[in-house]
Order: sequence, then C-alpha cells, then structure tokens
Amino acid sequence: MLLKRIAPVLLFLGMLALPLQAKTVRTENDSIRIVAPEMQVTCGPWLSAVGEKEFTVCWITSTDAAGWVEIAPDDENFYARERKRYYQTFQGRCTIGKLHRIRITGLEKGTTYRYCIFSEQVLKNEGNRRIFYATPVESSVFRQNPYKVTTLDPDKANCKFAVFNDMHERDSIFRAQAKPVAGGGYDFVLFNGDMTSQIESVYDIETNYLRSACNLFAGNIPIFFARGNHENRGAASYEFLNLFPTSTGNTYYTFREGPAFFVVLDGGEDKPDSNIHYYGLSCYDSFREDEADWLKTIVSSKEYINAPVRIVIIHMPPNANGWRGVREIERLFVPILNGTDVALMICGHTHRPEFHKAGTKPGNCDFPIFVNTLRSRADIEITADSITISAGKNSHVISLN
Ligand SMILES: [Fe+2]
Repeated sequence: MLLKRIAPVLLFLGMLALPLQAKTVRTENDSIRIVAPEMQVTCGPWLSAVGEKEFTVCWITSTDAAGWVEIAPDDENFYARERKRYYQTFQGRCTIGKLHRIRITGLEKGTTYRYCIFSEQVLKNEGNRRIFYATPVESSVFRQNPYKVTTLDPDKANCKFAVFNDMHERDSIFRAQAKPVAGGGYDFVLFNGDMTSQIESVYDIETNYLRSACNLFAGNIPIFFARGNHENRGAASYEFLNLFPTSTGNTYYTFREGPAFFVVLDGGEDKPDSNIHYYGLSCYDSFREDEADWLKTIVSSKEYINAPVRIVIIHMPPNANGWRGVREIERLFVPILNGTDVALMICGHTHRPEFHKAGTKPGNCDFPIFVNTLRSRADIEITADSITISAGKNSHVISLN
C-alpha cells in the first residue's frame, strides 16, 4: 500500500536522476549512441608548485575526463604550430578522473608562457574492453586572453605577494579581499592556513574559496599554500596535496622568488595528538620531528645561506606558553632557525594582528614575526634592502641593512 502511494514520487525522482548518468541507446540502424550529461569545468584552472623551471596546473571537471595541457611562448599565437601535450600520468599510464593535476617541466626561469587546458569527457568506461570519449573541450585561447604563467626568477630585484589566512569558509569576504589581486602586480598568492574549518569533500574547497580564487586570479597567479591546523580535519583532508601539490610532495617545502628564499612549514594540529576531537587520527608529534630533521638540511643548504633574504612561513606562530602545537614549533623549529639570519616569519592562526620584534617572547625568535589577522589580505613586498607589509590599517617596514 505504502509502495503504491510513493511510487509516483520514486518515478519522478528517477526521471530527475536519469540525465546524471550516461547511457547507451541503440538506434534504428543498430549503431550505438551514447547519451551523457555535458561535462563542465567546475573549478579552475589554478597554478601550484610553480618553480624556476616548472609549474603544475589543476582543474576539476563535473564528470570523469582525461586531461592534458599545451603551452606556447608568450609572444606566439597558440595556433602557430603543433604543441606538445602534457598529461597526468600514474607510472606511465594516463589518468582519468575529475581532479586534473598536470606538471610541466623543462622551462626557463623568469619566463611567461601561455597555456591551455583540455578535458576529454569519458562517456562510457568499460575498462580494458573500450572507452568512449566526447569531443575534447579547451580553455579559450582565441576569444579571450589565454591563461599565462610566469616561472619564478631568483634574479628579480623584488617580489610582491598577497597573504590570506583564517578565512574559515567566508567565501564572499575572501572574494572582496582578493579582488585587487586580479588587477595584477602580484608574483604569487600565499594561503597561510585555515582557509576552511575542515575538509569534508573536495566540493568544500571549491565552494569555500577555490572557485572564487580561480575566477579572480589563480589561473594566472600561482598559489603557495601553508597548511593550517584546520586543513588537517575532515574526511577529505587527505586530498590536500592533490589539490595543492608542492615541489617536495610534502606540506613543507621551499621556493625562491626574487631576492627571497621562502621556507614553508607545517605546524600540524594545535592540540595534543591524543585529543578526543582528533578521533585517534593525529600523529603530529612525530610529523613535526621529521619536519625538523628536514629543516636542518634546508638551513645548511647553499640556496638558503646565499639568498639575500630568508622568509619563513608557518600558519601557527611559535609560543613557548601556548597549546601543544605552538609549543612544539617553538621547541623544534625555532632553535634551528635562530642564528640563520631569518628576515621575517609570516603567521596567522591567532585571529588578531600581531607584530613581534626580534628577540621578544612568546616565540623566543631572533627574527620578527608578523601575524596576519583573520579574513584580511596583507600585501608584502620584499627587496634585498627591506620588507614592506601593508595589512589593512597596519603597516610595517623592516630594514634589512
Ligand atoms: Fe589555525
């Protein structure tokens, strides 16, 4: 009886669901026609892991697809010649999926390239038997300006970047704060942690800030990401490096732009590993110990020592009197960094603007710490002689002479 009553509802819901799935239709002449929803690029492209000779471009499609990237010199039309195709591969085999992440290598430093992304929708995947694809779609290189990427350049006299942290899913605020970045003049954008409060799905990241970032700047201006404590949380937190790949394959890494050598650190979670809210999943004590070993190799590298300016980025500022995470950052990382002529540490996490001069508590650092407040953009410009920070009403100038 109940089934009879709800049958029309189930039928209606079934009809709604139909267009979401590809299906095969046998036509009059016995050929097979595949009917599938049209694929969309729902997010992207965005640039990550940009280096002096490489970059990685990511995007997300609404259905499974194969993807590739083509690049062209900045002064040449895309259609002037055949372009090499760069694919995402796994041990030699091209991948199919919704998240596309393609690394392009062998480039020249400080050089601008045009690039184009291609997505080839999978209409029907029968495994080793056969795969049907739709006609590929490409990002426009004709009706609108093509996407561009500029590789990092250690010979530049300066570098300028925007910092966002602790947006905690306020996409409309992020969008308003990020709008000026679209106007250009920035070498990269730094997401310094807690852009969301947890990552339950890739869709969370898309809707909480990444689509806005892509709409405004991320197709042309690289993102460097320092993972915050909140990015460790949620069922899809393991996707973090798939979305924001780095040069090391870890959430701690380095890069050089202009006179500045950047060390990006990951402080892990803020509370003790045994905290019940981590559900037995936290091992950040040993994570930070391993990271400290890596940091020792970095501060003794010639790239670090010979750089005109050394900048450290970490979401949580060191604090000898704080919670477990910041105490461990102070205990493990600060002694390695002290005495190595760090010009500035850039942090977030505390949700208030702070500036600690070198040699002051709570971090016991022999370098200054700038803490950018929540939901606010900071612009930072670095030359060999000075660091200029502009963060809302607060500004700081650090002389390096
Ligand atoms: Fe935080």
